[in-house]
Amino acid sequence: MSQRETSDGRAVGAVVVVQLDGKRHDVPYREGQSLLEAARAAGLRPPFACEQGHCGSCAAKCLAGSVTMAVNDALDADEVAEGWVLTCQGRAVRGAHCVVSYDEE
Ligand code: FES
Repeated sequence: MSQRETSDGRAVGAVVVVQLDGKRHDVPYREGQSLLEAARAAGLRPPFACEQGHCGSCAAKCLAGSVTMAVNDALDADEVAEGWVLTCQGRAVRGAHCVVSYDEE
């Protein structure tokens, strides 16, 4: 996520890159949105179920940038260290060009 920032430092007009089914998409991203919300708002159909951070259905790998999770009841520490995030709980950290992929295994 990058581009312009407001006077209080929040990014505006930001974009995250989402890889899904072998294609990369530039997805508009608003501060505070989950990555899953942003992807769905852009018309993508990523996997998800609970939207509460419990099931792991929405997991994707962060390939660049940084993501914070509000709740994580599905991924273990090793998976998080490898870059896996729950996109229903994940929010892009401002100022970093964020790339997440649903295509990793
Ligand atoms: S949809 Fe269940 S953890 Fe994200």
